[in-house]
Amino acid sequence: MANTILYYARCFLAVIVLMIAALYGVIASIVATLIGKQYLAQWLTARCYYNLMKYTMGFDVKVIGEEKLENKPFIAVSNHQSTLDILMLGRMFPQGCTVTAKSSLKYVPFLGWFMSLSGTYFLDRSSREKSVNTLNKGLEQVKREKRGLWIFPEGTRSYATDLNILPFKKGAFHLAQQGKIPIIPIVVSNTSTLMNPKWKVFNRGVMTVKVLDPIPTDELAKEDIGKLAEQVRDMMLTELQELGYSKANNDTNLPPQFIEQAKKETSVTEKTRDEASTVTGSEIRAAN
Ligand SMILES: *[C@@H]1O[C@H](CO)[C@@H](O)[C@H](O)[C@H]1NC(C)=O
Ligand SMILES: *[C@@H]1O[C@H](CO)[C@@H](O)[C@H](O)[C@H]1NC(C)=O
Repeated sequence: MANTILYYARCFLAVIVLMIAALYGVIASIVATLIGKQYLAQWLTARCYYNLMKYTMGFDVKVIGEEKLENKPFIAVSNHQSTLDILMLGRMFPQGCTVTAKSSLKYVPFLGWFMSLSGTYFLDRSSREKSVNTLNKGLEQVKREKRGLWIFPEGTRSYATDLNILPFKKGAFHLAQQGKIPIIPIVVSNTSTLMNPKWKVFNRGVMTVKVLDPIPTDELAKEDIGKLAEQVRDMMLTELQELGYSKANNDTNLPPQFIEQAKKETSVTEKTRDEASTVTGSEIRAAN
């Protein structure tokens, strides 16, 4: 009972924090645009949101290989899990990078306003032509101004599937090939131990984000795109399995699959399980 109340309380707090960050984002975007630096708006807002979440909710993000994001232009592709993706972006988002998002997000109060004002590329799922136009414009800007573009290439999440990473849409890979821009795959550990509505999970803890080596595309032909997308997905799936679950405290609940896996590991030693399922406050701080 107490853990269910805590779950809802933390959900509520998370929404408030997101609204505050988005409101800050609206103001930061307007100011940044006025002084000719709109490209900094998403970065400014991302870090504000990350720090708010870190100090109010006890989340953190551990990054491996962040230096690989220093060389622009690039197209970053990452796996999509839940709304916690925004927290991951909050920590990761590089300066001069822009995110693509589905156009329905435009109408979310505060968040949508911020995204519109800060130059997000909105993709219309119902109109392929519009999306392609938007992406082509984006590609030009990315090349001209040496920017980054962040894309979640997975198809829409469907509740009917158990796949850990859904098949990729090829947009990101077409763009990369067309613009001869490297693809940078980014893999996020399973965050269902941090937040999961189905199991009423909302715990403090640390997600791990691993930046893989950039994949050059200058030598690729149009016919290679399908294969490239598949290769990148396979590569990310392997990494995801290696990263496993995000480390979390059991403040509310834990997903049954995680508990089962932890039990199996216990049969090896008792000790392993304690390490896998709990982290202390100092570990969370140390992981930063
Ligand atoms: C994360 O773990 C949950 C629970 O075991 C599972 O249902 C889900 O598919 C996993 N997702 C990813 C991206 O690994
Ligand atoms: C996690 O905590 C909840 C609430 O205190 C408890 O009901 C549950 O049994 C715990 N689960 C594990 C695996 O420790």
